[in-house]
Amino acid sequence: MRDEFYRIKRLPPYVFAEVDAMKAQARADGDDIIDFGMGNPDSPTPQHIVDKLTETAQNPRAHRYSNSRGIPGLRKALAGYYERRFGVALDPDSEVVVTLGSKEGMANLAQAITSPGDLVLAPNPSYPIHAFGFIIAGGVVRHLPAHGGSGGDQKDYLAALQRAVDHSIPKPVALVLNFPSNPTAEVVDLGFYEEVVGFCCRHEIYILSDLAYAEIYFDGNPPPSILQVKGAKDIAVEFTSLSKTYSMPGWRIGFAAGNKRMISALARVKSYLDYGAFTPIQVAATAALNGPQDCIDELRDLYRERRDILIEGLAAAGWEIPSPQATMFAWAPLPPAQVEFGSLEFAKLLLREAKVAVSPGLGFGEHGEGFVRIALVENKQRIRQAVRNIKQVLSRSHNIEPERKAVAE
Ligand SMILES: Cc1ncc(COP(=O)(O)O)c(C=O)c1O
Repeated sequence: MRDEFYRIKRLPPYVFAEVDAMKAQARADGDDIIDFGMGNPDSPTPQHIVDKLTETAQNPRAHRYSNSRGIPGLRKALAGYYERRFGVALDPDSEVVVTLGSKEGMANLAQAITSPGDLVLAPNPSYPIHAFGFIIAGGVVRHLPAHGGSGGDQKDYLAALQRAVDHSIPKPVALVLNFPSNPTAEVVDLGFYEEVVGFCCRHEIYILSDLAYAEIYFDGNPPPSILQVKGAKDIAVEFTSLSKTYSMPGWRIGFAAGNKRMISALARVKSYLDYGAFTPIQVAATAALNGPQDCIDELRDLYRERRDILIEGLAAAGWEIPSPQATMFAWAPLPPAQVEFGSLEFAKLLLREAKVAVSPGLGFGEHGEGFVRIALVENKQRIRQAVRNIKQVLSRSHNIEPERKAVAE
């Protein structure tokens, strides 16, 4: 018998596991942990969407196997959203697939298009499936800095992309983009996508763009879609999701849209693996996309308010964190006194001393070191409480030794 399975060996131990175990222990000990760890939306799904689910579930015909590509009405609704929001026309039959959450779609598209040893360019730090979808599929990943923001960072990104292509053998077959980014909350403009699409067309590199945070933006700047770029459909597929937009993370509904060849490959793989989401969920998802959209404004306002309380509160406590323009995350550089101990030790310190859980940046890849990610998934009162607790810890943190150091000495 082999010691470990080939694919499992390529999945490193989960960095968040250590913090999760501490969190579970603290809760078992009766501590009230303010949890900014996982990006798991805490708001309920809007009532009209839940109502459509329960109404449809009463119909026995909706209990049968569904359609692996997604029911036609839902694919049409996604095409309607792209037309309305981005001015992009999509053929619901050949350019859209419904997925069981966008994470499933990314993983199965990676399976569909990757040959053993294929090189893929993925951001670092990143949401894990961006790299590990391809690693599980037998590919090889070269990391690119996640930075794609405006100005210098954008130029750096394009230079890194050029270097990656110049110095990689075999040449990369695909590039993963994710803006607004999890975990860094960076955003890009359409000009950035134009550059990247032009580059990837010239070098025959497919693009997978993850637009999970399309609607979670603040300060009036809606994130663009890569499919707005002329010719993008020749090489790009974009993933969107209802998880954050309508606070529907547990429902598992996402979409892949764009390049017909990749959409068809994904649909083929999925036809072997699933029968589509439960029909009432797809009908309710259709109601979400076609129905009133003021629930999204309310969600945006909620996250914006939380963001401001967190960022202003921590700044007053002496911890300066850039205010995110989009997503539900703040990407926080470690306070200077904590840099030498690293993000995992700092996350453990906050959990132990402030009863606040955050995600260590290292968990999103080596270039995430030096940061923690703070998810805006607790209410305003609890964010204020967390700020007070963190302030106390920071004011005496020069006296507090992270556990690792205490053990080592
Ligand atoms: C960038 C990004 N992509 C995809 C997902 C997963 O979304 P879904 O629930 O559609 O699988 C997440 C979830 O946190 C995310 O942050």
